[in-house]
Amino acid sequence: MPENPTIVSWHPSKIARPRGCVVWFTGLSGSGKSTIANRVDEMLHDKRVPSFVLDGDNIRHGLNASPEILRKHHSAEFAERFGLTFQALDREENIRRIACVGELFAAAGLIALTAFVSPYRRDRDLARQVVAASGKVGDFIEVFVDTPLDICEQRDPKGLYKKARAGEIRNFTGIDDPYEPPVHPELRLLGGDRPIDELARQVVDYLEQQGKLRR
Ligand code: ADX
Repeated sequence: MPENPTIVSWHPSKIARPRGCVVWFTGLSGSGKSTIANRVDEMLHDKRVPSFVLDGDNIRHGLNASPEILRKHHSAEFAERFGLTFQALDREENIRRIACVGELFAAAGLIALTAFVSPYRRDRDLARQVVAASGKVGDFIEVFVDTPLDICEQRDPKGLYKKARAGEIRNFTGIDDPYEPPVHPELRLLGGDRPIDELARQVVDYLEQQGKLRR
Protein backbone atom coordinates (compact mmCIF):
# COMPACT_ATOMS: atom_id res chain seq x y z
CA MET A 1 0.00 0.00 0.00
CA PRO A 2 1.41 3.47 -0.87
CA GLU A 3 2.36 5.49 2.20
CA ASN A 4 0.07 8.41 2.99
CA PRO A 5 2.33 11.49 2.86
CA THR A 6 2.65 13.42 6.12
CA ILE A 7 1.95 17.04 5.28
CA VAL A 8 3.21 19.64 7.73
CA SER A 9 4.43 23.18 7.16
CA TRP A 10 6.89 25.36 9.06
CA HIS A 11 5.44 28.17 11.18
CA PRO A 12 8.07 30.93 11.55
CA SER A 13 8.50 32.95 14.76
CA LYS A 14 8.21 36.74 14.67
CA ILE A 15 10.61 37.19 17.58
CA ALA A 16 14.24 37.97 16.70
CA ARG A 17 16.08 36.20 19.54
CA PRO A 18 19.85 36.09 19.96
CA ARG A 19 20.94 32.66 18.80
CA GLY A 20 22.93 30.20 20.87
CA CYS A 21 25.01 27.36 19.45
CA VAL A 22 25.71 23.65 19.91
CA VAL A 23 28.99 22.48 21.44
CA TRP A 24 29.18 18.81 20.52
CA PHE A 25 31.51 16.77 22.75
CA THR A 26 32.46 13.38 21.31
CA GLY A 27 34.81 10.70 22.63
CA LEU A 28 34.98 7.31 24.28
CA SER A 29 33.03 6.42 27.40
CA GLY A 30 35.12 7.66 30.34
CA SER A 31 37.01 10.20 28.19
CA GLY A 32 35.72 13.10 30.29
CA LYS A 33 33.02 14.54 28.00
CA SER A 34 30.38 15.01 30.71
CA THR A 35 32.84 16.30 33.31
CA ILE A 36 34.25 18.90 30.90
CA ALA A 37 30.78 19.85 29.58
CA ASN A 38 29.54 20.40 33.14
CA ARG A 39 32.59 22.49 34.02
CA VAL A 40 32.03 24.62 30.88
CA ASP A 41 28.38 24.97 31.94
CA GLU A 42 29.50 26.34 35.35
CA MET A 43 31.96 28.76 33.75
CA LEU A 44 29.28 30.05 31.37
CA HIS A 45 26.81 30.36 34.24
CA ASP A 46 29.37 32.53 36.10
CA LYS A 47 29.49 34.76 33.01
CA ARG A 48 25.65 34.91 32.92
CA VAL A 49 25.60 33.14 29.56
CA PRO A 50 22.65 30.73 29.34
CA SER A 51 23.70 27.14 28.68
CA PHE A 52 22.53 23.60 29.34
CA VAL A 53 24.17 20.16 29.33
CA LEU A 54 22.55 17.32 27.40
CA ASP A 55 24.29 14.19 28.65
CA GLY A 56 24.00 10.77 26.98
CA ASP A 57 23.60 8.80 30.19
CA ASN A 58 20.88 11.19 31.47
CA ILE A 59 19.01 11.52 28.17
CA ARG A 60 18.90 7.72 27.87
CA HIS A 61 16.76 7.73 31.06
CA GLY A 62 14.08 9.90 29.45
CA LEU A 63 13.82 11.22 25.91
CA ASN A 64 15.98 8.42 24.50
CA ALA A 65 15.04 5.69 26.97
CA SER A 66 15.75 2.02 26.34
CA PRO A 67 13.03 -0.52 25.43
CA GLU A 68 13.24 -1.90 29.02
CA ILE A 69 12.47 1.52 30.53
CA LEU A 70 9.62 2.19 28.07
CA ARG A 71 8.04 -1.19 28.78
CA LYS A 72 7.12 0.05 32.29
CA HIS A 73 4.42 2.37 30.90
CA HIS A 74 3.99 1.34 27.28
CA SER A 75 3.19 -1.73 25.23
CA ALA A 76 5.92 -4.12 24.08
CA GLU A 77 5.29 -2.97 20.51
CA PHE A 78 5.78 0.67 21.49
CA ALA A 79 8.93 -0.08 23.50
CA GLU A 80 10.50 -2.00 20.63
CA ARG A 81 9.66 0.72 18.14
CA PHE A 82 10.77 3.80 20.07
CA GLY A 83 13.23 2.52 22.69
CA LEU A 84 16.92 2.96 21.92
CA THR A 85 19.72 0.44 22.43
CA PHE A 86 23.41 0.71 21.49
CA GLN A 87 23.09 -0.88 18.06
CA ALA A 88 24.38 1.32 15.23
CA LEU A 89 20.89 2.22 13.98
CA ASP A 90 19.74 3.17 17.48
CA ARG A 91 22.86 5.27 18.08
CA GLU A 92 22.04 7.02 14.79
CA GLU A 93 18.54 7.87 16.07
CA ASN A 94 19.96 8.89 19.48
CA ILE A 95 22.25 11.39 17.78
CA ARG A 96 19.57 12.59 15.33
CA ARG A 97 17.19 13.41 18.18
CA ILE A 98 19.91 15.21 20.13
CA ALA A 99 20.96 17.23 17.09
CA CYS A 100 17.34 18.38 16.82
CA VAL A 101 17.08 19.16 20.55
CA GLY A 102 20.43 20.97 20.45
CA GLU A 103 19.18 23.01 17.51
CA LEU A 104 16.00 23.92 19.45
CA PHE A 105 18.12 25.03 22.42
CA ALA A 106 20.32 27.13 20.12
CA ALA A 107 17.21 28.67 18.56
CA ALA A 108 15.96 29.46 22.08
CA GLY A 109 19.22 31.35 22.74
CA LEU A 110 21.10 28.77 24.81
CA ILE A 111 24.52 27.23 24.37
CA ALA A 112 23.72 23.50 24.25
CA LEU A 113 26.59 21.37 25.55
CA THR A 114 26.02 17.82 24.31
CA ALA A 115 28.03 14.93 25.76
CA PHE A 116 27.43 11.77 23.70
CA VAL A 117 29.90 9.11 22.59
CA SER A 118 28.52 9.65 19.07
CA PRO A 119 30.99 7.15 17.59
CA TYR A 120 29.98 7.45 13.93
CA ARG A 121 31.37 10.27 11.78
CA ARG A 122 28.34 10.24 9.52
CA ASP A 123 25.92 10.73 12.44
CA ARG A 124 27.98 13.67 13.76
CA ASP A 125 28.18 15.20 10.28
CA LEU A 126 24.40 14.96 9.96
CA ALA A 127 24.06 16.64 13.39
CA ARG A 128 26.30 19.43 12.09
CA GLN A 129 24.07 19.82 9.04
CA VAL A 130 20.90 20.00 11.17
CA VAL A 131 22.35 22.88 13.20
CA ALA A 132 24.00 24.66 10.26
CA ALA A 133 20.81 24.46 8.18
CA SER A 134 18.87 26.52 10.72
CA GLY A 135 21.66 28.84 11.81
CA LYS A 136 25.20 29.39 10.65
CA VAL A 137 27.97 26.93 9.87
CA GLY A 138 29.86 28.13 12.98
CA ASP A 139 26.92 27.27 15.24
CA PHE A 140 28.06 23.63 15.52
CA ILE A 141 31.31 23.24 17.41
CA GLU A 142 32.67 19.71 17.45
CA VAL A 143 34.93 19.03 20.43
CA PHE A 144 36.89 15.80 20.30
CA VAL A 145 37.77 14.65 23.81
CA ASP A 146 40.80 12.66 22.75
CA THR A 147 41.54 10.39 25.70
CA PRO A 148 43.36 7.14 24.88
CA LEU A 149 41.35 3.95 25.34
CA ASP A 150 43.76 2.56 27.94
CA ILE A 151 43.21 5.60 30.16
CA CYS A 152 39.41 5.43 29.77
CA GLU A 153 39.61 1.76 30.63
CA GLN A 154 41.74 2.41 33.71
CA ARG A 155 39.26 5.05 34.90
CA ASP A 156 36.24 2.85 34.15
CA PRO A 157 33.96 5.04 36.32
CA LYS A 158 30.88 2.83 35.79
CA GLY A 159 32.67 -0.52 35.61
CA LEU A 160 31.41 -0.95 32.03
CA TYR A 161 34.79 -1.66 30.40
CA LYS A 162 35.29 -4.50 32.85
CA LYS A 163 31.86 -5.90 31.93
CA ALA A 164 32.58 -5.45 28.20
CA ARG A 165 35.93 -7.28 28.50
CA ALA A 166 34.14 -10.07 30.36
CA GLY A 167 31.61 -10.32 27.53
CA GLU A 168 28.73 -9.27 29.81
CA ILE A 169 27.96 -6.23 27.60
CA ARG A 170 28.21 -6.33 23.84
CA ASN A 171 28.69 -3.53 21.28
CA PHE A 172 30.75 -1.52 23.75
CA THR A 173 32.51 1.41 22.05
CA GLY A 174 36.27 0.89 21.90
CA ILE A 175 36.05 -2.80 22.83
CA ASP A 176 33.83 -4.57 20.31
CA ASP A 177 32.25 -1.55 18.63
CA PRO A 178 33.99 1.14 16.57
CA TYR A 179 34.84 4.75 17.40
CA GLU A 180 35.52 6.97 14.39
CA PRO A 181 37.56 9.99 15.54
CA PRO A 182 36.66 13.37 14.04
CA VAL A 183 38.82 14.42 11.11
CA HIS A 184 38.48 18.20 11.46
CA PRO A 185 36.98 18.99 14.87
CA GLU A 186 36.82 22.64 15.87
CA LEU A 187 38.66 21.65 19.06
CA ARG A 188 40.66 18.64 20.16
CA LEU A 189 41.16 18.27 23.90
CA LEU A 190 43.85 16.01 25.30
CA GLY A 191 41.63 14.40 27.91
CA GLY A 192 44.26 12.05 29.30
CA ASP A 193 46.77 14.42 30.78
CA ARG A 194 45.38 17.90 31.40
CA PRO A 195 43.32 19.09 34.37
CA ILE A 196 39.57 19.49 33.79
CA ASP A 197 39.64 23.25 34.46
CA GLU A 198 42.26 23.76 31.77
CA LEU A 199 40.28 21.72 29.21
CA ALA A 200 37.03 23.53 30.04
CA ARG A 201 38.85 26.87 29.79
CA GLN A 202 39.98 25.96 26.24
CA VAL A 203 36.34 25.52 25.25
CA VAL A 204 35.23 28.79 26.88
CA ASP A 205 38.14 30.66 25.26
CA TYR A 206 37.17 29.24 21.87
CA LEU A 207 33.55 30.33 22.34
CA GLU A 208 34.75 33.80 23.35
CA GLN A 209 36.99 34.07 20.26
CA GLN A 210 34.09 33.04 18.05
CA GLY A 211 31.86 35.73 19.57
CA LYS A 212 29.47 33.16 21.03
CA LEU A 213 29.44 34.71 24.52
CA ARG A 214 28.16 38.12 23.43
CA ARG A 215 24.56 38.70 24.35
S1 ADX B 1 25.99 6.99 21.76
O1 ADX B 1 27.01 6.09 21.16
O2 ADX B 1 24.65 6.64 21.34
O3 ADX B 1 26.32 8.40 21.51
P1 ADX B 1 25.57 7.68 24.50
O4 ADX B 1 26.54 8.81 24.70
O5 ADX B 1 24.14 8.03 24.30
O6 ADX B 1 26.13 6.72 23.33
O7 ADX B 1 25.65 6.72 25.76
C1 ADX B 1 26.91 6.26 26.18
C2 ADX B 1 26.90 5.88 27.65
O8 ADX B 1 26.11 4.73 27.84
C3 ADX B 1 28.30 5.52 28.08
O9 ADX B 1 28.91 6.59 28.76
C4 ADX B 1 28.12 4.34 28.97
O10 ADX B 1 27.97 4.78 30.31
C5 ADX B 1 26.79 3.75 28.57
N1 ADX B 1 26.85 2.54 27.72
C6 ADX B 1 26.17 1.41 27.96
N2 ADX B 1 26.35 0.52 26.99
C7 ADX B 1 27.21 1.09 26.09
C8 ADX B 1 27.78 0.65 24.86
N3 ADX B 1 27.49 -0.56 24.37
N4 ADX B 1 28.63 1.47 24.20
C9 ADX B 1 28.90 2.70 24.71
N5 ADX B 1 28.39 3.17 25.87
C10 ADX B 1 27.53 2.38 26.55
